[in-house]
Amino acid sequence: MQWKTRLTSMLGIRYPIIQGGLAYLAYSELAAAVSNAGGLGQITAMSLSSPNDLRNEIHKVRAKTKRPFGVNFAIGQHGRPFTDMLNVAIEEKVPVISMTGGNPTPVFEQLKGVDVKKLVLVAAKRQAVKAEDLGADAVMVVGQEGGGHIGKEDISTMVLVPQVVDSVSIPVIASGGIGDGRGFMAALSLGAEGIEMGTRFIATKECVHAHQNYKQALIDASENDTSVIKRSLGAPGRVIRNSWTDQILEIEKIDPTYEAIKSYISGDANCAYVHNGHEDGFGWAGQIAGRIKDVPSVEELFDRIIKEAGTVRERWNDTEY
Ligand SMILES: Cc1cc2nc3c(=O)[nH]c(=O)nc-3n(C[C@H](O)[C@H](O)[C@H](O)COP(=O)(O)O)c2cc1C
Repeated sequence: MQWKTRLTSMLGIRYPIIQGGLAYLAYSELAAAVSNAGGLGQITAMSLSSPNDLRNEIHKVRAKTKRPFGVNFAIGQHGRPFTDMLNVAIEEKVPVISMTGGNPTPVFEQLKGVDVKKLVLVAAKRQAVKAEDLGADAVMVVGQEGGGHIGKEDISTMVLVPQVVDSVSIPVIASGGIGDGRGFMAALSLGAEGIEMGTRFIATKECVHAHQNYKQALIDASENDTSVIKRSLGAPGRVIRNSWTDQILEIEKIDPTYEAIKSYISGDANCAYVHNGHEDGFGWAGQIAGRIKDVPSVEELFDRIIKEAGTVRERWNDTEY
């Protein structure tokens, strides 16, 4: 069964499945495994401490796969400069650069004349239209179910994706709340030409930087076990709920300022949980955690998704409506 869309042709991948940027989790092991399985793996640039570390990580991906991969830039991270990091990605001629979390205009300026596919992750229709105007090759659209930063307006993937599909002419990639073949087919039905997954990839064998406690929390979670923090700062993000995130919500109620919760939402607090499994910290995760029940290899996960999507296609073909 073929899974060709404009996205697979544009990126040179077999399946229109993208592994989203994953702060402190998406390094060479995961990115290469996803690309080897036929999707697009990505490393997350801003989790690395220096441009040289990014160069090394890119070399590590290339040693593990000959397939296309991407480098993701979360450009809004507390104003941390990304120019030098982006220069490394340009010098290394990475095939795909994705960006999110801020105004992408400076990234497009730096990428002028560079032969690279540019993907922008957005959470609202107007952002998608702007990304297309700036020259994006495709947009990823994340609904409020998703893990990590989401839109301020609480629009679900189901509603947002067709809105964006009808508003831009470039390929749209659905993101947020997808973890299996049914979600994949639902996204294609909405007019998306591919999917992006974040949370589902954390619970894979090759996501080696995710602590066992984090993976287990995803397995144990129901769809009710996530919270949205940082709403009071105008930058909502979905996390797996624990005592630390409950404390954040309490503080946000009393003192909704960045200063008040800064130490609770820092990269250190994120890594304490994600890398070390400490409850004194937090991990981003989406509602799809409620449907994660195991930790397969990335290849097993792809096989499962493609098989399930194939079954749905066959069922549609055999059904008289
Ligand atoms: C742990 C985690 C970290 C994330 N970090 C980033 C990031 O650094 N850059 C980015 O573009 N998106 C980031 N995201 C968003 C994902 O790329 C993706 O859009 C989102 O997870 C999709 O929703 P899902 O979790 O329901 O699959 C992150 C998501 C999670 C769960």
